[in-house]
Amino acid sequence: MAAVEYSEHMDAHGEDGMRRRDFLNLGAVAFPAAGAVALLYPLINQMNPSADVLALAQIDVDISHIQPGQAIKTIWRKQPVFLRNLTPREIQEANAVDVSTLRDPQTLAERTKPGKENWLITMGVCTHLGCVPLGAGEGENRGPFGGYFCPCHGSMYDTAARIRQGPAPKNLEVPEYAFTSPTTVRIG
Ligand code: FES
Repeated sequence: MAAVEYSEHMDAHGEDGMRRRDFLNLGAVAFPAAGAVALLYPLINQMNPSADVLALAQIDVDISHIQPGQAIKTIWRKQPVFLRNLTPREIQEANAVDVSTLRDPQTLAERTKPGKENWLITMGVCTHLGCVPLGAGEGENRGPFGGYFCPCHGSMYDTAARIRQGPAPKNLEVPEYAFTSPTTVRIG
């Protein structure tokens, strides 16, 4: 009660009173917020993923059967992923591009793992509006840059899956992954 009277008194005397009143109001809000955090903690803790859910967040893919020039599609977190074994020529084509001319400048080396530049692993999701580009399946149209071609609105990706022409703003996304053996890739 005393605090309210003090605030009204100061308010009548100008700006300083206004600031003091704001401070008092903020103090009143701070205590219930602390209580809310304490209540939320057990709820958030309960929502932490269990071990089996975490396992689903990662997949192991056998790449031993993918020959140079071939690619496969798999599904990870309900989205398509392309795993492609680039030929020496496709690597050469990707490295011959002046990166500064690209819409989303990245080298092939930045999009692959050291010593494994032939393994191009990307999401199979066009960065324009999310269609699945062609080019990973046998005999599919890879477009004029030899990588992937999105049939929805004509985005064209090169052999490093970088956007070269069409409306897509970004390169095909490279997901988190690691080689767990020379022939196994763990995605996620
Ligand atoms: S969704 Fe691929 S070009 Fe539009």
